[in-house]
Amino acid sequence: MTCPCIVPKPNRCIVTDAAVFADVRNIRKEVDTSLADGEYTVQLTESGSVITAADEKGFFYAKQTLRQLNAVYGDKIPCMVIQDAPAFAHRGFMLDSVRHMQSIDEIKTLIDAAAVFKFNVFHWHLSDDQGFRFESETFPELIEQSSVRPSSDFGDVHDSNPYGGYYTKAQMREIVQYCHDRFITVIPEFDLPGHTSAVLHAKPELSCTGEAVKIKTCGGVFPDILCGGKDEVYDFLYALLDEVCDVFPDEYIHIGGDEAPKKHWQTCVHCQKKMKELHFTDEEQLQGYMTCRMAEHLGKKGRKVICWNETLASDVLPQDLIIQNWMDRKKQCTPFANKGGKVIYSDYYHYYTDYPYDMTPVKKTYSADPFAQDLFPAAYQNIVGVETPIWTEHVRDFSRLCYVTWPRFAAVSETGWTKKENKDYNDFKRRMIALLPLLSEIGIQAAPPEDWDPNPVKRLFGTATFFMHTVNKEMIVNFLKGNKD
Ligand code: ACM
Ligand code: ZN
Repeated sequence: MTCPCIVPKPNRCIVTDAAVFADVRNIRKEVDTSLADGEYTVQLTESGSVITAADEKGFFYAKQTLRQLNAVYGDKIPCMVIQDAPAFAHRGFMLDSVRHMQSIDEIKTLIDAAAVFKFNVFHWHLSDDQGFRFESETFPELIEQSSVRPSSDFGDVHDSNPYGGYYTKAQMREIVQYCHDRFITVIPEFDLPGHTSAVLHAKPELSCTGEAVKIKTCGGVFPDILCGGKDEVYDFLYALLDEVCDVFPDEYIHIGGDEAPKKHWQTCVHCQKKMKELHFTDEEQLQGYMTCRMAEHLGKKGRKVICWNETLASDVLPQDLIIQNWMDRKKQCTPFANKGGKVIYSDYYHYYTDYPYDMTPVKKTYSADPFAQDLFPAAYQNIVGVETPIWTEHVRDFSRLCYVTWPRFAAVSETGWTKKENKDYNDFKRRMIALLPLLSEIGIQAAPPEDWDPNPVKRLFGTATFFMHTVNKEMIVNFLKGNKD
């Protein structure tokens, strides 16, 4: 028999008798401490069923498998034996709650679905040019002045109403607990030194020039970034990260590092003085120094940092850094991994779910291979996992968010969990279609199967239309002015 409808596909599943249904009324739990992290077995027989794992996490995954089987087969689940374990340690999804926010209930719905598909990391993007969403008590001005933008101009959609808000510490702690109850760790992201227009709007003294900075109303890459030379910037970041650590107890903190144009740093007396003191010849080294200082500060609290791949433009880097590879233009991630550096695969071309299906069909997402061709086999272990982001410039409401993320999130979950040799797209599609009612029961209306893999003509027109609607004049002007990296 083909594999029962489970996603991600179990690494070993034998249907012992398709015509005989298992007794799943009283499932016995057996502890086997020899099983690995996340590993579990499920034995479903006519006379009773047993799940085995080393700990509660393994039992949780066994239960998600049973939940899917129950959703698809009801009380007529065939007898089978499953032996299963994750391929990668990091199986994440990222949510941009800045460009557009989601309610706490909506975020919980997304987490519910992610848990059923065995994700174990929720990366929460909470600060950017268009808003600051973390309730800071140390810096209340970030809530008063940085959380609301005067209007929104993402692509060709103009909304003249102010937009904003923030998550209270109590709400963020509630999300952390909700995730922990589902064996999901939470990685908050505070993007620095770039993507900080909202922070600089409240605290212009932290920029190189000290001049007023507008909170941004459109997407793009902007030249106003935190100054790398002023001591008060480092003091601010330490205090803010202390507050962040207080709310988010898990090991990793994401400190961004992407798309930070160095235009102001090149002429800033503070940045240049600091570079001279440190014998740096390149502004990228100053960003690396900033990363090191944050890592050192967080390290004292037992935390480690994750950064986007642009951070590798510097030869000054902290130890224990994890790089999230989203757009490796300079081809730095594979050499980094080959030398022992840890990398999360998040390639924008395959894994950015804000792009329409015309541009990134489910098959393309599913087919992504986290192991680059020039990665040494001995370095495969340095690819710690996969993560799929949903950026929300053009994703204004939860129904659109569900449509674009599912089933692509599920496709990533299968790459994160199932060994490459056990993957097959057509089979994934069959299993996934059977699981759509379960997603719907959870509160997620996924894209219908006819939208998953558009034909080449539709893809071409859809991709062109997406760009026509999403790239606006200001982004082109910024790009031509050279503010893009
Ligand atoms: C990114 O998409 N700028 C990480
Ligand atoms: Zn500066």
